[in-house]
Amino acid sequence: MTAQEIRKKYLEFFVSKGHKVIPRASLVPQDDPTTLFTGSGMQPLIPYLLGEEHQEGTRLVNSQTCFRAEDMDEVGDNRHTTFFEMLGNWSLGDYFKDEQLAWAWDFMTKIVELDPEKLYVTCFIGDEDTGVPKDTESAKIWKDLFELDGVDAEEVEIGSEADGYEKGMRGGRIFYYDATKNWWSRGGVPSNMAMGEPGGPDSEIFYDFGTPHNEKYGKHCHPNCDCGRFLEIGNSVFMTYKKTVGGFEELPKPNVDFGGGLERIAAAAINSSDVFQISLLKPIIDHLEELSGKNYEQHQASMRVIADHLRAGTFLAVDGVVPSNKQQGYVLRRLLRRAIRYAFELGIEQDLCEQVVPTVTRIYRDDFPEVAEREQQILDAFIKEEKIFRQTLRKGLQVFEKLVVPGHIETLKLFDKNGEFAEKPYTFSELTGEEVFKLYDTYGFPVELTKEEAFKKGVNLTNDADEVFSKLMTEQRQRSQTASAGTFKGGLADHSEEVTKLHTATHLMYQALKNILGNNIVQRGSNITAERLRFDFSHHQKITPEQLEEVEGIVNEKIAQDLPVTWKEEKTKEALKSASGAFGDKYGETVKVYTIGDPKNPFSREICGGPHVEHTGVIGEGGKKFKIAKEEASSAGVRRIKAILT
Ligand code: ALA
Repeated sequence: MTAQEIRKKYLEFFVSKGHKVIPRASLVPQDDPTTLFTGSGMQPLIPYLLGEEHQEGTRLVNSQTCFRAEDMDEVGDNRHTTFFEMLGNWSLGDYFKDEQLAWAWDFMTKIVELDPEKLYVTCFIGDEDTGVPKDTESAKIWKDLFELDGVDAEEVEIGSEADGYEKGMRGGRIFYYDATKNWWSRGGVPSNMAMGEPGGPDSEIFYDFGTPHNEKYGKHCHPNCDCGRFLEIGNSVFMTYKKTVGGFEELPKPNVDFGGGLERIAAAAINSSDVFQISLLKPIIDHLEELSGKNYEQHQASMRVIADHLRAGTFLAVDGVVPSNKQQGYVLRRLLRRAIRYAFELGIEQDLCEQVVPTVTRIYRDDFPEVAEREQQILDAFIKEEKIFRQTLRKGLQVFEKLVVPGHIETLKLFDKNGEFAEKPYTFSELTGEEVFKLYDTYGFPVELTKEEAFKKGVNLTNDADEVFSKLMTEQRQRSQTASAGTFKGGLADHSEEVTKLHTATHLMYQALKNILGNNIVQRGSNITAERLRFDFSHHQKITPEQLEEVEGIVNEKIAQDLPVTWKEEKTKEALKSASGAFGDKYGETVKVYTIGDPKNPFSREICGGPHVEHTGVIGEGGKKFKIAKEEASSAGVRRIKAILT
């Protein structure tokens, strides 16, 4: 069965169970400025999972296009992709475990016709901290389903992933794991969830490819082992709790949030552990083989990266993203540049996008009319981007040529850490790890290519070149992870309690600054970690120590008053009249507005996706006070404040 058929049959199957098909949401969230991309099927449904009524009813189904930028560096193995479709069905306080698990089972075994002998499932082991019990109900349902199909189903307790490697399969079919594996929320485990965020125990289905276990991963294999034998193909989340300051609260009605990776189910359907063999990716790989004259078997990683990135890039562009240096546009630019660089290594030296993008659009145009509609526009934008980047690559080659003249000294203009051009003299008798890194980082010049060229020219690499190079790479990765963590969640490093407190403190401070400096200051950016908040805003003078003290005073007063923090969905136009928003006209039709204080006479109103504490007193828990640690210029006309809770 092809992936296209699986998608179609999934929707039909759930329609036959009373579900309404809802359209996929854009990859760029329309009403949630806190996150750059739609990364799971449930994301657009959060308000409804929390209890709001959905106009299509209580049973919904779709195939949601998803993009996870944070997986970009993982692409290259047999299963990771940045873009994927998540088949999703939802019960909004309607059916629960019995129906959900039986339908998931029937879909996998009767519709996709996966062999029940090759399926394994996992359930939540229970958790004392949250008081959520062991999910024996799901295990019982699974046991009956397996046994009806003639498969013996022993239950085995595992616990953590580490325990799994110690304990192994022990003849089990149904495995219990702890919250690191069998709890789902957008923030992950319960302790990492934001206030107000829904989550719950889940039950996953795994497909067994029967490949031998690789002990590099751990002593024994188990369903959550990373050796590649098992692939998770579906997850039924029993979304029943909401995190609050006082602990976990049951939602008014229990929901089901099911998500199954279409690409993975399709790989299981053809019994191939390589998702790049499925009907949505194989034609791209075939085309790359043809263009490069090289064999996939020998160039798997490069071809997978190119195929994934061009497919993801195309869909981002379908949803309106254009290559740029900011936000979603920057991610698209990175995808395209990485694809072109890898293609260069394969010997595809021109017209990659012009050649391959039409192959991508051919795969999707019948099922997603918007792909066909925007095809030409996308192609034009990508061709332009490729032209610019190829010039950059050529420049890299020229720089390289200079680097490899022994003894040659020259002042080179290279990017420094801040991304500025800086001049530096270089002596090029041999290549250092630093130079290899600069070629890679600044000119996108692939390391293998550098080494090959160096070898051809008889130039040596210093002994520690590899070591220095990997050190610089690690540092750069950490930098970009911090940067992406910052950009991807509206400036929040994560959704932990400390970050959430500082986030609400940021709203208080913004309003306090307006009270002291005037209403015309405008937020220019923010970045919040568990340790401190950083806030940039437009203002042309230094803020005096007295003014800073006044701001601190106001914030601490508002914390002491323990004001309620609430939010409401509002029409964007109306909201912008009275609330602050950092994104100008970038919002969709409606936005979430956070209010601090009495909604009739609020202290602060801001367009924001959250999360926030539920009342300001939480910020001062443990006797903490809000303190401004630093005030400085960030760029022309922009001031930067760093503040902490101490
Ligand atoms: N929301 C769940 C997931 O992404 C189904 O795994």
